[in-house]
Amino acid sequence: MNSIALFEGKRIILGVCGSIAAYKAVDLASKLTQAGALVDTVMTEAAQRFVTPLSFQAVTGRPVYSDMWRADADGGLPNHIAHIGLAEAADLLLVCPATANTLAKLAHGLADDLLSVTALAVDCPLALAPAMDGAMYESPALQGNLEILLGRGAQLIEPEAGRFASGLVGTGRLPETSVLIGRLRRIIGADGELAGHKLVVTAGGTREALDPVRFISNRSTGKQGYAIAQAAIDAGAEVVLISATGYLAPPVGATMVAVDSAQSMLEAVLENISDSSALVMAAAVADYRPQAVSEQKIKKSQADLSLPLVRAPDILMAVKAQRGQTGYPMIVVGFAAESENLVENARGKLQGKGLDLLVANDITAADAGFAADTNRVVVLDMDGGMQAIDLRSKADIGAYIVERIGGLLN
Ligand code: C5P
Repeated sequence: MNSIALFEGKRIILGVCGSIAAYKAVDLASKLTQAGALVDTVMTEAAQRFVTPLSFQAVTGRPVYSDMWRADADGGLPNHIAHIGLAEAADLLLVCPATANTLAKLAHGLADDLLSVTALAVDCPLALAPAMDGAMYESPALQGNLEILLGRGAQLIEPEAGRFASGLVGTGRLPETSVLIGRLRRIIGADGELAGHKLVVTAGGTREALDPVRFISNRSTGKQGYAIAQAAIDAGAEVVLISATGYLAPPVGATMVAVDSAQSMLEAVLENISDSSALVMAAAVADYRPQAVSEQKIKKSQADLSLPLVRAPDILMAVKAQRGQTGYPMIVVGFAAESENLVENARGKLQGKGLDLLVANDITAADAGFAADTNRVVVLDMDGGMQAIDLRSKADIGAYIVERIGGLLN
């Protein structure tokens, strides 16, 4: 797991309750630590019957607290009011897995163990990830308690449907770590620089059909666009990700719109930008498409075959026209994949397509551009400014682009 800027130095109290899903919390604690968070684990008595404090201590490198009465750092608190110190420093209290019993205690303010006492003392957001048998989760008592907690501002990480340890099937399973992390990014980033803004991001290479089985496409994988969408979520934006690729895991919390051709991407973009703050056209959109799509698979009966191509719609030009009338999106960011005269060509594109920012990448380098996990870009703005960003992860480049959009919007 790579470090995640949003988690860097964040203090997370991880409250672990007695559910079979407690073993998944060990993996979560590990991944959060790798992402840069400082995870202080507080375990209930029952949680320790499923996993040991040592597991959490080993993966977080920090003491684990469980005993309200013992005044030491080996499972108890360093002193009798340390839970206040723990609570004061916290950026988030995450109860994961949250059992019906602990949720009932939190809903009604009971304080008979370290976790419930700490929950009363914290001043930070509270996130709850319930995990229990389906019938328990559906029970009126549990749902009533959840309602109380959500009414007080707690954030729910919904359990998933699936098979339980009991063999029964229902809703109540703790989501996998990647989903939990994705949900936490939304919760922690909620008040970020783009809170209240809607961003539309396009990603991937469009596919222009020749016949029912063949298409013309390009080497774009969508990685940079997906990284921008994730960075925007981390900054608190509502994100619509219009994707021409199905290979990458969608960022948790993004509204996904699947498209294939330039025409279908154009329609999805125009439909979504009318109330958006920014559009980021990271997709590699076809410039040409086959003039006709054969209804039947093209047979290899001829020695050679010519396929006439016609221009595909230019999405950014259509956006420019719509924006001229509506004023939306407020900011438009384009990309340029160039193999020669990078800056010159990019400057022309910025003006021609009416962009606020243009991100140009040199697609001839192996460690940047298509398919790579890293990128090296030059960002041009409409005031003539130019910023070269040397080799960085696509996540970092995404965060930089989002930061520039935030600067233009605010
Ligand atoms: O002109 P060029 O294709 O290099 O411009 C790249 C930018 O224009 C990218 O942001 C891309 O998403 C967008 N584009 C578009 N419609 C096309 C081709 C590219 O909006 N048909």
